[in-house]
Parts: sequence; structure tokens; C-alpha cells
Amino acid sequence: MLSEAPDEQLDYLGKRVVLVAAVAENGVIGNGPDIPWRIPGEQAEFKALTVGHTLLMGRTTFESIGRPLPGRTTIVLTRDPAWSHDGVLVAATIEEALSLAAGLPGNVMVAGGAQVYAAALPYADEQVITRVHLTPEGDVRYPAYDRSEWTETSREEHDHYDRVFLLRAELAAAATQAAYSQFAREFAAATADPSDAVAVAVRRFAELLGARGRVLEIGSGGGRDALALEREGLQVRRTDVSQGFVDLLREQGHAADRLDPLTDDLRDPAGDAPYDGVWAQASLLHVGRDDLPTVLRRLAAATRSGGVLMVSLKEGDGEGWSTHGSIDAPRHFTYWRERALRTVLDEAGWAVTEMGHSTGRGEDWLTALAGRRYADTSGAAR
Ligand SMILES: NC(=O)c1ccc[n+]([C@@H]2O[C@H](COP(=O)([O-])OP(=O)(O)OC[C@H]3O[C@@H](n4cnc5c(N)ncnc54)[C@H](OP(=O)(O)O)[C@@H]3O)[C@@H](O)[C@H]2O)c1
Repeated sequence: MLSEAPDEQLDYLGKRVVLVAAVAENGVIGNGPDIPWRIPGEQAEFKALTVGHTLLMGRTTFESIGRPLPGRTTIVLTRDPAWSHDGVLVAATIEEALSLAAGLPGNVMVAGGAQVYAAALPYADEQVITRVHLTPEGDVRYPAYDRSEWTETSREEHDHYDRVFLLRAELAAAATQAAYSQFAREFAAATADPSDAVAVAVRRFAELLGARGRVLEIGSGGGRDALALEREGLQVRRTDVSQGFVDLLREQGHAADRLDPLTDDLRDPAGDAPYDGVWAQASLLHVGRDDLPTVLRRLAAATRSGGVLMVSLKEGDGEGWSTHGSIDAPRHFTYWRERALRTVLDEAGWAVTEMGHSTGRGEDWLTALAGRRYADTSGAAR
């Protein structure tokens, strides 16, 4: 189900700084000048990952290799102004190396050793770590990093090692948005016809809101649901976090705003009144598990007491990358179970009135209808 986002599929994120390292189970990456193992296939993988890109390495690592690696541009980091070598570029600081690399081919593939990994880590967008199943002697270790700041996008298992692809967590959201932006038209075409479950939810939502209710739509996508809601007499504010969808909706002649429900001001630009309802069909499934409570609280704060929320998410466990569904580009999904979803809705100020389970496009879905409680939620962020 998950993990189909190998490195090249993230190319639409632009130039990235990628740490590429082989790390033993005890954190060792080297012993003196050497790497204390030789594993068949690992070097070929390093080559496949780095050819066509710019390699950045420390002077010690470069000298232990002894020559520039073919098919790649090499920058060597050294504080020695007299140091040079045929066929490589030289930088005296990590910042100088990165600005040099900005004009060079491909991504910046940081190839070690420990000092250079540590210097580049604050700038890194990705890490591709070959976890070697050994505990060798060695005095050189990979630097420590905060795992909670990284999302695992993919993992390949081999006999003697695993390869783990880590993406900086905030880029996971950016990658998903970029995927929708890039494939907005394909997505809109593929999702133009509402499923029966969506049609039923639209009618139920409209019944609860009454005619002319003002609705904030989170994740308007190709615009299908907004049209269905308007046919039921509702007034819809179309929003999406992906600029590609906002542009598409505007091309179709609709007002639409780029809006991130986690951080942007959710108030209605059309007036001072709070919304009568929020429609979030298949959009909050890209919000991280820890962020959904904040998003739901912010939506409650923007909705009048007694207002209605419709939210649908994918049913299941965990989170991860997938290319399933309407477009063939990796997106990050968070899966929910009924009990956990009820808890976060309740804590955010929404009283759940209906919870449905359905299957659509081969996926299991959870759909919740909830009413904005009358209790004061003024402490919630707007
Ligand atoms: N397992 C793996 O994936 C992997 C990959 C690469 C290397 N390694 C291993 O790592 C070990 C080498 O690592 P290392 O940490 O000792 O050396 P290194 O990072 O390869 O090179 C250190 C040298 O790079 C220069 N340098 C480092 N940081 C700098 C900075 N911020 N600004 C300017 N110059 C900087 C300095 O050169 P000057 O002294 O000339 O100023 C420094 O002495 C070896 O054992 C090697 O086999 C393992």
C-alpha cells in the first residue's frame, strides 16, 4: 500500500541537498580513512543514485577515493587554500559549496565523511541511508539527527542492508501539494463524477445546513463537490492548498483561494460572519496525525455554533507514501480509525452525529458528520 516514492519521483521539488551514507547498526561509517566493509551491490547503487548530480565531499574522503568519480561533478570541502586537484572544484565553507552547487548539474549529493555530513545536515532536504547489518569497529560515526523531523518516504530491503529514504517532514507536505499542482488537470478529469457515497453526503450536508448556508470548502481540488453543493443551494468558498487547483478553478471562472488550514487565516473574506459549514472531502487525509487536531480546532473556531462539518479520510492504520488513486505521483497519506477520529473531533469542539464506512476506488473511507458545539471554543486558534 505504501512507500512508492523513490528519489527521482520527488524531482518536481527542485534542487535538493541529499545526504547519501552507508551507516552500520552501531552508527559507524568509517575506520581511520577506510569504510570497514565491502558489500556487493552497494557501490553500484551509490553510482546509480549519484550519476548526473553534484557530489560534495570532505578532503579526507576525497583523498581516500583518490580521484573524481566519473559522470559526476565533484566539490571538495577543505579549509586549506592551497589544496587543489585536477577535475574537482574546491570550497572553503559549506555555504560556499552549496552556492557553488546551485549552478551545477542535478542535486547536491553529500557523500561524507562525518564532518561534512554534520556540516550539511542543517541544509539537508533528504537522507538516503544504507543501513548495513553489521557492527564493525570504527572511529568515525554518522552525526545524530532528530528522527521526528524526518519522514520515511521509502525503504528497500536487501540481504545485507536496507536502504531508507528520509525526507524532511515539512517537505513531505510540500511534495504532496506539488504532486497535485503538477497533475491538477489529470486529477480533475479523473474525479469529475461523484461516487454515490459523495452524492449522498452532499445531500445530507445540505439538508443539515439549510438553503443558502455559507460553506468553507477545504481541498476543492478539481471543483466537483463545490458544484454539487451549489446545486443544493449552498454558497461555497472554494479553497485548496495546491496552487495548481486554485489556478484551475479560476480558469473555470470561480473565485478560489490558496489556503492552508493549518496556518492560514480561515475567516471568510466575503463577510464577518462565521461559516455555517465546512466541507472537507478527501482533503485532510494529507494532514499529519499530529496536525489534524489543530486543523479541526481552527475549523471549529471559524464556524458558527451548530454549524456542520463533513470530513472524509482514508480508513486504516499508520501513514505513508502512495501513488494509488487518481494521479501517478507520490503523495503522503495519514490513515485513521473511527475511535481515534471521534476523539480528535470531539476534543476540537465538534460533536459527531454520524460516522460512515465505505469503499471507493478500492480504498476504505471514513466519513464523519459533526456539529460545532455551542460550548466556548474561543481559546482555539483562528
Ligand atoms: N560509510 C559512508 O557512507 C562513508 C562515506 C564517506 C566517508 N566515509 C568515511 O568517513 C571517514 C572520513 O570522514 P571525516 O569526518 O574524517 O572526514 P571528511 O568529512 O571526509 O573530511 C574532513 C575534511 O574536510 C574538510 N572539511 C570538513 N568540514 C569542513 C567545513 N565545514 N568547512 C571546510 N572544510 C571542511 C577539512 O579538510 P582540511 O583538513 O583539508 O581543511 C576536514 O579535515 C572515512 O573513514 C571514510 O571512509 C564513510
